Amino acid sequence: MIDPVRFIGNYSSGKMGYAIAEELAERGARVVLISGPVSISIKHKNIERVDVTSAVEMNEKCRHYFHEANGAVMCAAVADYAPVQKSSQKIKRNKENLTIELKPNPDIAAGLGRVKRNDQLLVGFALETHNETTNAARKLQAKNLDMIVLNSLNDTGAGFQKDTNKITIIDKHNNSFNFELKSKAAVAIDIVDRMIEEMAL
Ligand code: CTP
Repeated sequence: MIDPVRFIGNYSSGKMGYAIAEELAERGARVVLISGPVSISIKHKNIERVDVTSAVEMNEKCRHYFHEANGAVMCAAVADYAPVQKSSQKIKRNKENLTIELKPNPDIAAGLGRVKRNDQLLVGFALETHNETTNAARKLQAKNLDMIVLNSLNDTGAGFQKDTNKITIIDKHNNSFNFELKSKAAVAIDIVDRMIEEMAL
């Protein structure tokens, strides 16, 4: 939050994360869906939804639930920076330029990567606009992930607000799987299939 009426956000709709939560729940997993503010509703007996409004809060909830989980899918488009100060009153307009100082938010996925046990699966996402594969592979390593789902903003039909997505999954064994453009529900099936295969290894 910047002040009581403004916040730093982005174009992510949350649809991909919700589709994965639903697919996991359908396959019998008990899912804790830690969600930022989105306009999607979800109802499934296996899904417990935990709402948060900041990266710090999301980090706390993730840390709380992770130790008893078999795995985590880090699908949120977390803001990398937050205002140093939150104004308690609405910031009023004037004629001068306005500077808002930002500080880095915790990297939630990297934090879980540091405490991850061998029996836990950590899946990350990478949204890239250039050097897609190199950047995704670097994030996989840096955050100690088991697999990373890459989507590029250069692919038509993939990315923010859409109902479709086109992904590549790169795993820690250096395997790379390319998928066609599909509905986010169908992409969720592919991701969960790969998760189950990796957990069986
Ligand atoms: N992520 C996170 N906490 C953050 C930022 C990102 O947990 N503060 C997670 C995302 O959920 C995703 C992965 O890290 O699983 C990669 O996110 P992405 O935004 O692609 O990369 P960043 O690490 O933020 O790097 P950059 O923005 O510089 O590309």
